[in-house]
Amino acid sequence: MAIDTQQISEVSVQPGELPERMTAWVIREDRFGEPKDAFEIEHIEVPEPGALEVIVRVMAAGVNYNNVWAALGKPVSVMRYGDHPEYGHHIGGSDASGIVWKVGPGVTRWKVGDEVVVHCNQASYEDPEVHGLDPMAAPSQRIWGYETTWGSFAQFTKVQAQQLLPKPAALTWEEAASYGLVYFTAYRMLLTRCNLQAGQKVLIWGAAGGLGVFATQLCALAGAECVGVVSSAEKGELVKRLGAVDYIDRGEFAGMMKKGGESEDEENARFKVTRAFAKRVKEILGDSPDIVFEHVGKATFPTSVFTVKTFGKVVICAGTTGIDVDFNVAYLWMRQKEIIGSHFANAYECTKANELIDSGQIRPVLWRTLGFDGVAEAHQLMLENKHLGKISILVGAESEGLGKTAEGPGAIYAEVGG
Ligand SMILES: NC(=O)c1ccc[n+]([C@@H]2O[C@H](COP(=O)([O-])OP(=O)(O)OC[C@H]3O[C@@H](n4cnc5c(N)ncnc54)[C@H](OP(=O)(O)O)[C@@H]3O)[C@@H](O)[C@H]2O)c1
Repeated sequence: MAIDTQQISEVSVQPGELPERMTAWVIREDRFGEPKDAFEIEHIEVPEPGALEVIVRVMAAGVNYNNVWAALGKPVSVMRYGDHPEYGHHIGGSDASGIVWKVGPGVTRWKVGDEVVVHCNQASYEDPEVHGLDPMAAPSQRIWGYETTWGSFAQFTKVQAQQLLPKPAALTWEEAASYGLVYFTAYRMLLTRCNLQAGQKVLIWGAAGGLGVFATQLCALAGAECVGVVSSAEKGELVKRLGAVDYIDRGEFAGMMKKGGESEDEENARFKVTRAFAKRVKEILGDSPDIVFEHVGKATFPTSVFTVKTFGKVVICAGTTGIDVDFNVAYLWMRQKEIIGSHFANAYECTKANELIDSGQIRPVLWRTLGFDGVAEAHQLMLENKHLGKISILVGAESEGLGKTAEGPGAIYAEVGG
């Protein structure tokens, strides 16, 4: 469908008022498949904010792998979760920068006109875990724009007030929309879950991808030495620029990838390549890694468990190549290693991490900014692993470069073919 971007960036109402309908990219169950087929533009009613909720006018939206999964309908259909059964549609998008447009009853911390970024964790105010343990432990916990509809690929989005963070003033709308989900996840994985310390050594899979560019910067900022695994020299150069000691091209060690169902001979051959990989990691870092940063899953998990140092930690938040991992557990118990699961972040972690963006110590890594009509294409690029760093989508912002109100380093622009 041809889209008039001018129409997307214009709204017919004043702040505090909502139009009846808006333009949104929508996934429906009968269209599940590759992103290019699953996403379609529709005109949808604009929701009213409930208690402690806020309607944000989206200026730019960030693209994440979660809506590749939402499009595919795999490994689960998002339509089963959150408010999807109530509305029957999925408006994806778990990152946004924008303007507070209307506030619901009980909201006191934010007012109409505030410029914000949105973190993607939602939980019920009434769950006790929210008030004493961690919102990530609440039974009501869900990821906005993935396990809920009303995400950011629309002119307006509905969020909980606790999801709002001040927009870093030195960033444009598209830069501010690009980093939240992956950066806050990497922050919790390394700082909270692994207690990352100066002098530690870290192995980062997919170091030029969304999670990886922030894991790499966090290691450099913390004084930890990291090596990034990538699939091309261009990506490797980006990872070095972000502070990695060096990179490894995984193409040189293709034989270590676990497919599942290997015969004994095949497994012995695979393990030989894993050993060579672990040796290379040790040579680069001067020792085995204290932490392995995992999200690739099935293909790499056995190598991660083998490669991490005795008493080391493998921290994992995803299984892009498969969630049914199969590894030699003897390397875990004999060498007293730990496997640590991690999922997004709580509002406090998001706030602390956002302060590092505000001060320019951690920077967004933006590969491309596309117009609103690029949502399906952007997710297709992710599915095909043709991107690096992050992709942003202009929604309310008429063009790139708008929304910056202070001087600062801004984003790193990752220029690599693909
Ligand atoms: N639980 C959570 O809270 C959470 C949060 C964020 C993301 N995630 C999940 O984490 C995964 C990664 O997200 P992302 O945003 O970082 O995605 P991304 O931008 O696509 O980056 C992932 C990187 O993984 C590498 N990779 C892909 N296939 C690989 C393979 N077969 N072997 C080794 N490396 C491979 C690629 O790097 P090279 O090709 O350069 O090696 C790619 O750049 C996704 O599944 C996403 O849904 C989970």
